[in-house]
Amino acid sequence: MAVLPRPPSASVEPASSPVSVQDSLNPLIESTYTHSDLNFYVNGRKISLSNPNPHWTLLDFIRAQHGLKGTKLGCGEGGCGACTVVLQVKDPLKKGKIAHHAVNACLFPLVGADGKHVITVEGIGSVEKPHPLQERIAKLHGSQCGFCTPGIVMSLYALVRNSYDVEKRVFRLSARDVELEGALDGNLCRCTGYKPILQAAKTFVTEDLKGQLNEDSDPNNDTLELDISGLKINDGKSASKQSCGRPGGCCRDTPGSNCSNDSDSVSAEDTSSTDATSISPSDYPTAKAVIADTKLEDTNTSGATYAAPIKSKENKPEENGPGPGSKTGTSLDAPVAIPANGIPQFQFAPYIPNTELIFPPALWKHESRALCFGNDKKLWFRPVNLQQLVEIKDAYPSAKLVGGASEVQVEVRFKNSDFAIAVYVSDIEELKTMSAPESERAAKSMNTFTIGANTPLSELETICKSVYAKLGQRASAVEALRKQLRYFAGRQIRNVASLAGNIATASPISDANPVLFAAGAVVHAQSKAKGSFPLPLSEFFIAYRTTSLPPDSVITRIEIPLPTHGVKEITKSYKQAKRKDDDIAIVTTGFRVRLNDDGIVEDITLAYGGMAPKTIEAKGARDTLLGRRWFDSTTLEAGLEALLHDFQLSFSVPGGMAHYRRTLALSLFFRFWHEVIAEFGLGQVDKEIISEIHRDISSGSRDDLNPNGQRVIGKQIPHLSSLKQCTGEAEYVDDIPRMNRELFGGLVLSLKAHAKLVEIDWKPALELPGVVGYIDKNSIPKEHNVWGSIKKDEPFFADGEVFSHGQIIGMIYAETALQAQAGAKAVKIVYEDLPVILTIDEAIEANSFFAHGKELKKGKAIDGSMRDAFSECDRVFEGVTRCGGQEHFYLETNASLAIPHSEDGSMEIWSSTQNAMETQEFVSHVLGVPSNRINARVKRMGGAFGGKESRSVPIACLLAIAAKKEKRPVRIMLNRDEDMATSGQRHPVQARWKVGVSNDGKLLALDADVYDNAGFSQDMSGAVMDRCCTHIDNCYEIPNVHIRGHVCRTNTHSNTAFRGFGGPQAMYITETFMSAIAEGLNMDIDELRTKNLYKEGDRTPFLQEIDEDWHIPTMLSQLRASTNYDARKAAISKFNKTNKWKKRGICMIPTKFGLSFATALHLNQAAAYVKIYADGSILLHHGGTEMGQGLYTKMCQVAAQELGVPVDAIFTQDSQTYQTANASPTAASSGSDLNGMAVKHACDQLNARLQPYREKYGPDAPMKTLAHAAYLDRVNLAANGFWKMPKIGYKWGNFDIATQKPMYYYFTQGVGISEVELDLLTGDHTVLRTDIMMDVGQSINPALDYGQIEGAFVQGQGLFTLEETLWTRDGALATQGPGTYKIPGFADIPQQFNVCMLRHDGDGQQLTWKHLRSIQSSKGIGEPPLFLGATVFFALREAVRAARKMNGRFEEGWCMDSPATVEVLRCNVGDRLSEMARVERKEGERPFFIKVE
Ligand SMILES: Cc1cc2nc3c(=O)[nH]c(=O)nc-3n(C[C@H](O)[C@H](O)[C@H](O)COP(=O)(O)OP(=O)(O)OC[C@H]3O[C@@H](n4cnc5c(N)ncnc54)[C@H](O)[C@@H]3O)c2cc1C
Ligand code: FES
Ligand code: FES
Repeated sequence: MAVLPRPPSASVEPASSPVSVQDSLNPLIESTYTHSDLNFYVNGRKISLSNPNPHWTLLDFIRAQHGLKGTKLGCGEGGCGACTVVLQVKDPLKKGKIAHHAVNACLFPLVGADGKHVITVEGIGSVEKPHPLQERIAKLHGSQCGFCTPGIVMSLYALVRNSYDVEKRVFRLSARDVELEGALDGNLCRCTGYKPILQAAKTFVTEDLKGQLNEDSDPNNDTLELDISGLKINDGKSASKQSCGRPGGCCRDTPGSNCSNDSDSVSAEDTSSTDATSISPSDYPTAKAVIADTKLEDTNTSGATYAAPIKSKENKPEENGPGPGSKTGTSLDAPVAIPANGIPQFQFAPYIPNTELIFPPALWKHESRALCFGNDKKLWFRPVNLQQLVEIKDAYPSAKLVGGASEVQVEVRFKNSDFAIAVYVSDIEELKTMSAPESERAAKSMNTFTIGANTPLSELETICKSVYAKLGQRASAVEALRKQLRYFAGRQIRNVASLAGNIATASPISDANPVLFAAGAVVHAQSKAKGSFPLPLSEFFIAYRTTSLPPDSVITRIEIPLPTHGVKEITKSYKQAKRKDDDIAIVTTGFRVRLNDDGIVEDITLAYGGMAPKTIEAKGARDTLLGRRWFDSTTLEAGLEALLHDFQLSFSVPGGMAHYRRTLALSLFFRFWHEVIAEFGLGQVDKEIISEIHRDISSGSRDDLNPNGQRVIGKQIPHLSSLKQCTGEAEYVDDIPRMNRELFGGLVLSLKAHAKLVEIDWKPALELPGVVGYIDKNSIPKEHNVWGSIKKDEPFFADGEVFSHGQIIGMIYAETALQAQAGAKAVKIVYEDLPVILTIDEAIEANSFFAHGKELKKGKAIDGSMRDAFSECDRVFEGVTRCGGQEHFYLETNASLAIPHSEDGSMEIWSSTQNAMETQEFVSHVLGVPSNRINARVKRMGGAFGGKESRSVPIACLLAIAAKKEKRPVRIMLNRDEDMATSGQRHPVQARWKVGVSNDGKLLALDADVYDNAGFSQDMSGAVMDRCCTHIDNCYEIPNVHIRGHVCRTNTHSNTAFRGFGGPQAMYITETFMSAIAEGLNMDIDELRTKNLYKEGDRTPFLQEIDEDWHIPTMLSQLRASTNYDARKAAISKFNKTNKWKKRGICMIPTKFGLSFATALHLNQAAAYVKIYADGSILLHHGGTEMGQGLYTKMCQVAAQELGVPVDAIFTQDSQTYQTANASPTAASSGSDLNGMAVKHACDQLNARLQPYREKYGPDAPMKTLAHAAYLDRVNLAANGFWKMPKIGYKWGNFDIATQKPMYYYFTQGVGISEVELDLLTGDHTVLRTDIMMDVGQSINPALDYGQIEGAFVQGQGLFTLEETLWTRDGALATQGPGTYKIPGFADIPQQFNVCMLRHDGDGQQLTWKHLRSIQSSKGIGEPPLFLGATVFFALREAVRAARKMNGRFEEGWCMDSPATVEVLRCNVGDRLSEMARVERKEGERPFFIKVE
């Protein structure tokens, strides 16, 4: 028997408790909890853990295993899905069958794994044998940086496995299931724009399951029914009753047979590998999807085989002929037949269902036992029945019950709650008993719907659906609950979270509580002392997160009363959040009304969440409405007035958004009033008021036919790492195997925005277990304590004063990451507050700026006569434009690993950085060694978007200091909240502008002061402002321009580079003044834009000439025609005239983006090193880093094209400073331009050296023949390439056209059109369609470029419509994780999303670029499309404008700031409800959250 743990010592017990923990719990432990080992399976392998670490989540356990690094940590709070694994369990709804639940391993407590089969991404496939889902996502470009990919694969895997109907032997899966039923709503991807992932999933259904997706039919009937015998996996036998439900059958279908699943050959009794740390990769069975017999000749993801190196002189070079390394007959040439429509066709391995992992037979027999394990800090109990549970609560009422842990684990992780006694209740059957009626008859006699307290919400959702289907309107409360559950968290949370958890938490924004409240639900609780007793929900919530549930009690069930037949009662629910999917509510409601036969209100409950510190009933409204005739407009008016009295929110209300919340309170009631009338047939109502924004299954196209394709260049080759990313084998910094004696860092961060550091006490941290030491400002010489990308003005460690919340004060290091983090939190710091500046306005007021002083002058501005320029204008418009910041939200947070070497002070630094050179430079600086001792290495990043161009550097330096001090490797991976608090964001920008125009809309003069919020240090804020100033013209000629840039110094974190680098903010400013002009002149905005477009020969405000490669006019007219823009615009105008509650908008905007590091000339250089080995294989190093954009793939293509070999012949392991000296950061969209030319330069040299051998062996001789022959002749087969960008060299302050040089090498250009629909009652919207055309020159790899375009667009869409960074009044970032900061999800992308590239000129002739001298005439594409996301903003602006006009509130100079969140949109509609709900700001009142733009 395992040694039983002892309860935590009395010190953790609340002082008030009369009995010690030991005294309370020891008797129970000794009598009942005699087992402390967990038994479960991982990927078919039995795991038995004796007394495991009680602090571990399932993710902690999984990631501690060798070979199981595919499951990622992206946020730790259930908000991103990177950690998704699948639990294979006995199906709770279908006896004897299995079910697959995608869950967040980061929240799931390890104790919950007992008796279950955990399937991770490694369990379903590997690069050698990928699961067809993995293969599809890889080949169809659904993975860029790959950090989100394993989680997405696992969510889809659960969907596919659950879709199999074992009785009928059919898959029930449709496009709706993939896209509209929330299967992927718990997964985020920041790179791809989601479209290719959906494409891969849907083609898996149509092609692998060999069916047709029925996209238009009735949602309930559009299932795909596939007889899987058609998949040749049927052995002729039908599924047995005992079949567990593996598609294609399992061992129980053929009793006596050996199970085909190797993994299950590990018997239940086999405990040979019970030690968690003893599991090695070879222990893990790889995929059971047998696809090896299908040649993967169309992909180059698997690598090519090369002959062993031929060193012996005796071995003669091979004769000519095809073979590995040959430039003909390669895997690249093979792919992909291009049919007439030009869409590349990949071959996919077939899906073979009966090779899927089965449910381990031993688990059928698994019997749950009462468990207890832990240590002197924390104990876990797992009772197996209600009685045992009640006894624990009786013995120790403070014991924390844990259901799905979706609330508890967040409290543990982010609110420092450490529950010493935790009790896992999710496996107690009595808490999951439901009262779903089996038959129509049973349904009819049902008068209460009973819900097991801890039934998982997904299951509840399914049951609610079936109850409502049987009972109809009588079960409207059940349907209202289901509706809330559909948009409750993400699928992974719903698969584990419970109603009891929601109710007991008593969150004021709970989604379930208002419906349950309105429906008159009763909570049933039980305790040992009182037995079972009811608690009406209406009396349950006492105060903020406080309930009337006695501490010794547990919730056992919830009962919803159902009205009797014939009663006119209806319950509805409505929820409004920032994002539709997976977001907590702003306002959430449950409304119930009962009318008598005369339509008079007999009873009514209007329950609201988000309007008070607890779920609350609008009592005044109830009293007002009782006894009134429902279908009477005076009733509606009285209800609205009463609600205003019920909800008198102050401007500074906690959570903010007072005006919006009040407006929603009215609007949702308004909707309800109409819906009741419609449902009871009381009268005619406008259906639009009732209908919410509708989203369809998405579609879209890419114009795949590439006229510029060459042998390798121009081919749509999947990202070279994509398959590894899909199988979880791709390694990121935190996946590098643990080093011997490795330590982990935990950052000590400032908790004040501006303060003196009075005292820092490290002792409490040093006393904690595992903590080894710390570093701070005293750990390096004072003169070394400074860094900065451009200006060195930021200390590594705060010294005496902190200037930002989240500024680094020091770092604790310990034996494990959890210990280091606990240590960091234990450091005691005394601060003395100093004044705080947060916003741009405050900075201007306080004259708080960093020196910048750059300005652009053109025309009359040069000689100082802008006044004259304006005096010649017919109209002058002035305004202030604000654009909020943006969090990078790369899925992989900043991570680094420092490995000190014992000799010569050298060190290896692995970092998730875009900037290996700067990492090397500053690590050598803090260590006091020359750069040649530091090898900074980057394999790949899980996204970066500019956020790892500089802000990754101090992290690496801290580790280096600690590693040097301890002579041990040190690693860190920041938690999401730490990353967001410390690493800076896109700059919030404000512009104060004045534009002059002629009456016919010709732009004549622009004068602007532009401010960016730099934060507490300069970082790259000056350079961001430079780019901002140089993009404020967008695509328009303005003859007289004076622009001044200002860099504001504030006490926020230091803002940094972000995709677009100030360009998107600048062009947003341009388009806001264009809108103001069009509205002021009453002119069509498209006409205004077209009239002012640059023409060849014009000059920009930085005096660069627009050359012949100016294609914006051509693209505008091509896209306008191909998308039927004018007709659609007219149709929208008509729609808006006839629709009162929904408005549509459309807009078409061009963009140009300058390529080069604009004002840091020295960065426009690159080097590459190409080595050909004697076997013909080629190693490529260059200065660029891989962050998902596909740079490695493109560079391999360039080398392959130049050297005449297949892409498989080239290998890039990583980027490192020991291979490439002085590499510029991979940024400014210039990675391919710079490094591609350097690679070509190296290849040119090698080609020259190989030329004699090509002549000798023929032009098609394989590389191994050439290389071997050259080797024998002692030819140098390694070459160093170098390139510096010619032509550019702009000098700020030089306004002389004759001597000024271009700032940019060329412009990447594009046009976007978006069409939207807006719900005026809530501010919800959907993007109906987006079309983008980009001029990318001759694309090196169109697939990667489409990916960049779609991904950047969606990121831009997020910037301008959804993503809102907010600050607390005392200067802390309030939006510190996916819970509060929303990036676009699967359901936010355009419903129709078409992307194409410019191919032809205005005359229909194939295009050539006359001045483009870039690698293969391609153009940088990473950043340019991002601004086109603003087409959604401006289309929404059109929709709001139409509403304001309708409401008689359209005035000149109206401005709507970015981001256009639901709040901004709704509050700008200017209707009566919004005016009624207005909340005045009292003198001195500050908003609850601060916006800093
Ligand atoms: C990413 C994310 C998204 C979310 N989105 C939403 C959302 O959209 N809407 C929403 O309303 N909530 C949301 N939540 C909050 C949370 O998921 C819900 O409150 C959920 O219902 C909690 O259930 P659980 O079983 O996971 O509770 P747990 O975390 O296990 O427990 C929560 C509380 O309930 C208590 N408890 C659990 N079972 C019982 C019982 N039988 N008797 C007495 N007490 C019990 C626990 O002791 C604890 O105090 C979200 C949470 C996360 C992490
Ligand atoms: S890491 Fe688990 S959801 Fe983000
Ligand atoms: S590929 Fe999805 S986050 Fe990078």
